[in-house]
Formats: sequence, C-alpha cells, structure tokens
Amino acid sequence: LGKNIVYEESVKSTQEIAQKLSYEQKPEGTLVVADEQTGGRGRLGRPWQSPKGTGIWMSLILRPEIPLQKTPQLTLLAAVSVTKAIYKVTGLHAEIKWPNDILINGKKTVGILTELQAESDRVHAVIIGIGLNVNVTVEDFNEDVRKIATSLKIESGNETKRADLIAAILEEIEVLYREYLNKGFGLIKLLWEGYAHSIGRRIKVRTASQQLEGVAKGITDEGILLLEDDNGKVHSIYSADIEIPGT
Ligand code: BTN
Repeated sequence: LGKNIVYEESVKSTQEIAQKLSYEQKPEGTLVVADEQTGGRGRLGRPWQSPKGTGIWMSLILRPEIPLQKTPQLTLLAAVSVTKAIYKVTGLHAEIKWPNDILINGKKTVGILTELQAESDRVHAVIIGIGLNVNVTVEDFNEDVRKIATSLKIESGNETKRADLIAAILEEIEVLYREYLNKGFGLIKLLWEGYAHSIGRRIKVRTASQQLEGVAKGITDEGILLLEDDNGKVHSIYSADIEIPGT
C-alpha cells in the first residue's frame, strides 16, 4: 500500500481527487494526500476542517473483490489500524466510537469516511478517507468544534511528524488487510471491539427515522451495531449518530 502516491498541496477534498482518478490511475493501495483541504467532507454531508500542514488529510484506495455489503468492514479495519498506529507513534490511547470516530479522552481526533465506486453488486474501488488532527491547536478549531474535537498535539503536548504517522498507519492497514483477505473479518472484529469506547455502555442513537436508547452489545460480522433497549429487544443499527450520555 502507498506505493502509488498522489500528493497535492491544496485540494478541495482528497476524496474527490481519488474518485476522479481513472481506474488505471488508481491501482490497489493508491494514496491521495494533501497538505490542506478547502472543502473537506465529513460523514452525513458535514464539513471537515482541514487546516494547512497540521493534520493528515488522505484517501486510501483499496480494490478488493468483496461484495458490496461487506465494505463497512474495511472502515472498521481502518479505524483499528489508525488507533494502533497512534499508540505506536505517540503512546496515546485512543478509543473507537461506532462506526468510525476515534476519540482521545472523549474528544474526536480522527474521522473516517468511506465512499464506494461500484456497479450493481460489483465493487470497483473503496475510498477510505482519513482525517487526523495531528498538530492542530485549539485556536485552529472553530468554537463549535473546539468542544468536541482534539488533536494529538493537544493531548500529548508534542508535535508528531505527519510522515511518520502516515507510514505507521499504512503499515498497520497493510497487515490487517492481508489478514482480512486471507482469513476474513474475525480478528479485526475482535480488535475493534477491544478498542471500542461504546460497547457495553449505555448509548443514545439517532437514526434518520428514530431515536433509541439502550446498551451497545457489540457489532455483527457486517459491522452493524447491536443495541439492546430496556425491554430486552435487540435492534440492528446500520447508520446513525450515537451519543454516550455523560461524556
Ligand atoms: C467524519 O468523521 O465525518 C469523517 C471525516 C473524514 C475526513 C477525511 S480528511 C481526508 C478525506 N477527504 C475528505 O474530504 N474527507 C476525508
């Protein structure tokens, strides 16, 4: 992974660049990295602040031959890999909040956005966008974001070299991706549950159609969250925002 690198100083969004590359221009493992994004995208159509030179704003392209419904597993794989890489490089313990936020001391440090290029059930490319606040300072965040977001520098007091962290992330993804292709999702699911901040805790879930409250039980083999409500009924959550009361 990362043998083919597309580096840009300033782009609207590395996701957009990754999508626009032709399939010949983006073999498996192609990485699009930028120093700054002027229109970084978050999940659910939200913007993602990506100030110049202070974070990792990148999109990794994978081209696995897997059915469409298994692609969320790759987002979880990426979240585990980034969490491990952060620990290796900085010693900071991060936790994963379903589906794909990474928190340090309860505040968001990393966001992951996976987008697909597919035709009916055939996956052509999985574009895993990773936004990691590395040396971002409190002043770089706007008022609203400040309350909920942090960076490696804010948490550790030290600057981290972005290139070192990118290399560590790619190394971790490479190991787990090979495991995934050879043996499936089993180990990654276990690792994910080990790093997960919400499993076993009481959470509130807001989906497009309903609000639910209960205990997060775990994830399924497809990466779907299982929530047990107070009547003991288990709900499968495909996509939602979760809130952990008291954090
Ligand atoms: C989220 O938590 O909402 C996901 C944020 C994903 C941000 C990254 S930064 C690199 C890539 N390019 C984008 O425009 N978004 C992703």
